[in-house]
Amino acid sequence: MTASLLQRRFATLGPYSPLFYDEPLEFVSAAGVCLTDSRGEQYLDAYNNVPQVGHCHPRIVAAIAEQAGRLNTHTRYLNNRVVDYAEQLLSTFPSRLDKVLFTNSGSEANDLAFRMVRQATGASGVLVSDFSYHGHTSYLAGLTTGLRTGERLAPEVRPIRIPDLDRTTLSESELLSQSLEEVDAAIDSLNAGGFGVAGFLFDSLFSTEGLNSLPNGYISAVIDRVHAAGGLIVADEVQSGFGRTGTHFWGHQRVGAQADFVTLGKPMANGHPVGGVVTSSHMLDQFGPVNNYFNTFAGTPVSAAAGSTVLSILQDEQLPEKAVLLGAEIKEALELLGEEYSFIGPIKGAGLFFGFEIFADDSRQTPSPERTKRIVEAMKSNKVLISRIGRDDSVLKIRPPLVFKSKHADQLLESLRLSLKEV
Ligand SMILES: Cc1ncc(COP(=O)(O)O)c(C=O)c1O
Repeated sequence: MTASLLQRRFATLGPYSPLFYDEPLEFVSAAGVCLTDSRGEQYLDAYNNVPQVGHCHPRIVAAIAEQAGRLNTHTRYLNNRVVDYAEQLLSTFPSRLDKVLFTNSGSEANDLAFRMVRQATGASGVLVSDFSYHGHTSYLAGLTTGLRTGERLAPEVRPIRIPDLDRTTLSESELLSQSLEEVDAAIDSLNAGGFGVAGFLFDSLFSTEGLNSLPNGYISAVIDRVHAAGGLIVADEVQSGFGRTGTHFWGHQRVGAQADFVTLGKPMANGHPVGGVVTSSHMLDQFGPVNNYFNTFAGTPVSAAAGSTVLSILQDEQLPEKAVLLGAEIKEALELLGEEYSFIGPIKGAGLFFGFEIFADDSRQTPSPERTKRIVEAMKSNKVLISRIGRDDSVLKIRPPLVFKSKHADQLLESLRLSLKEV
């Protein structure tokens, strides 16, 4: 069944669309943190962040069905539900960020944010991490550094290496000043090239990079430099937002950043395609009068119903607060596990997003993508879903829906124990 489905998929979608695992999984249903495949096998989801409040949450299903059964139009008609949602969403931000534009995806959100950034600054130069992904539009392909793309890096993009205290022999202050010198050089180069500095785009978890442990003060120092050069800050919350990091509802707040634009996606509507750009009236007033921004499917009443219910569930079920507590428990258990296996690097991440690097041997000099892949496959055999990230594809990526509980953490850890033993 799965084999013939795979053939039919290759025949129709082509062979290039990525699939997880040597033998892909075919899921047929899900609830909470549990997915069931076509053979009736159950898997614990310790990977997916889109179903932030759990797969097929009954309140989301009901809200979508109820609104879809009543009315679904676009934003060129007035609709109470859409405005209610905009108010609810904006209430999670500081008051200066008081406007939202809806999109259908994180890519669209970043693309739109940079249209606004370029118009507000009159500049085009962009600083971005040298191993990152922010979306698939042709503009964003020109600033993609962490994924294969046919497009070249755009001439107005300067990739900067994001420091990682776990991957250096330098002291924290040495690493900080070395990294900031790189930022200064990138800004100088953009100015020398006549591009000016339009903005800095970053994911505060640096998840594609492998969950870097930043030197204290790094992000605020970059932001100061970018602002001083006339640029603006775009915080990409596609990975780190909606309570993922626990202590802060928005990930950029955890690293002490003040953003001019915040871009949203993935968990925003628990799987229904919703994204957005949050910014200030001042920024919108530079963009709005000269651009008739309209987006057919973005900000529909059904999308608003889904998005609004996500926010309500996060609050009612206190999921960010629980992510802090359970996150600390899991981190501690992972650290104990790390003491048993010397080929494991330090435990990284925040809230309910963890990673740790897998090395070729106990000297921990050489990252091992092969061994990391074997662990991910072994976890699958042990019925737990995780993945891997990082510039060497050697950091295990553990990022469950926020409705993960202690009993699920026990299962995750038991499966990790078994899988680490196997490799
Ligand atoms: C940090 C980040 N930004 C943007 C995107 C793009 O979002 P989408 O796939 O919804 O276009 C992704 C997707 O993986 C992402 O991880």
